[in-house]
Amino acid sequence: MRYIAEAVASGQLSGNGPFTRRCQELLQWELGAAQVLLTTSCTHALEMAALLLDIREGDEIICPSFTFVSTANAFVLRGARPVFADIRPDTLNLDEKNLSALITPRTKVLVVVHYAGVGCEMDALVAVARERGIPIVEDNACGLFGSYRGKYLGAFGDLATLSFHETKNVICGEGGALIINDPQYIRRAEIIREKGTNRSRFFRGELDKYTWVDAGSSYLPSELQAAFLCAQLECRKEIDAARSAIWRRYQEGLTEWAHCHGVQLPFVPHYCVQSHHMFYLLLPSEEAREELIRYLKIRGILAVFHYVPLHLSEMGLRYGGYPGQCPVTEDVSDRLVRLPFYNALSEIEQAEIVQALTSFEVPRQPVRREAIASNP
Ligand SMILES: Cc1ncc(COP(=O)(O)O)c(C=O)c1O
Repeated sequence: MRYIAEAVASGQLSGNGPFTRRCQELLQWELGAAQVLLTTSCTHALEMAALLLDIREGDEIICPSFTFVSTANAFVLRGARPVFADIRPDTLNLDEKNLSALITPRTKVLVVVHYAGVGCEMDALVAVARERGIPIVEDNACGLFGSYRGKYLGAFGDLATLSFHETKNVICGEGGALIINDPQYIRRAEIIREKGTNRSRFFRGELDKYTWVDAGSSYLPSELQAAFLCAQLECRKEIDAARSAIWRRYQEGLTEWAHCHGVQLPFVPHYCVQSHHMFYLLLPSEEAREELIRYLKIRGILAVFHYVPLHLSEMGLRYGGYPGQCPVTEDVSDRLVRLPFYNALSEIEQAEIVQALTSFEVPRQPVRREAIASNP
């Protein structure tokens, strides 16, 4: 509230003021990026990435099917065709083994998503993309300050994106950031974020007037959002400590029950530091998942499913998606449930959730739906 009052008192509420710069500098310094630009959302940061990479009609982009719609849509807006990759059954991240088979001469970018803030197999993905000369964009909406083999998520791609939507760890209501690791994109990114003008250079005193120089849009958040975000970023260690305690309590409280009932808990490879964004369960069947959601709801506990496979969405089908195309995604999407997870979740509330879960008898004879493999 103090920072917001400061922003109001300063008389500058539009973007690119002191709080925007403070957030950008903090992120840039922490993540070791060449440049970080705050944006109005992760979706808009992805749209900026598509503009920066000159994505056009007829281009293809590879992304996981198990992700939020913006991962694909930002590139579809520029005319690209999304090519959907299946995921690994352990981390639920894009399966690096599938990548080479999906690359064609039209592939213009690989967009990876660090599901639940746990790193993808970046060594393998970067190696394939480098060999084929394909840039990488990391959609790191949920993985801020997570790392893979000692390097921050968001530091591997030519570009990466973050979300500060209120459902994330560090928030400002609606907001995001574009992380630029390849300095060749810095100048144009500033222009794209400022409606295609060179206004940023004008405000730095590098030009005596500003003008329209490129395609662009309005991707700059206001100082009010930046002020809120600045306080959140400064509290990042406290936020992570609270969330990591919540994550551990779920893990400790549920491991035995999960083992006895064929329920899979999140898998975090030993070389990954996760962002403690989410705790999910993979039930043995869709029916068991639905029953658990109903059971918890009766007890006043809201547990929800997650991404619906993009290749089977209305838009995905228009791009040639078909049942069986990404079998792991289809299976996981049916069986996954997310548990309540927010910074202020108290130990007492969490104990009640764990108690409710461990008294749930997972249906014994799960009816597993087989993925129907049919190519239209
Ligand atoms: C992987 C992923 N990418 C992008 C987004 C979009 O983020 P935003 O709401 O900041 O646009 C989300 C939202 O949850 C997401 O999960």
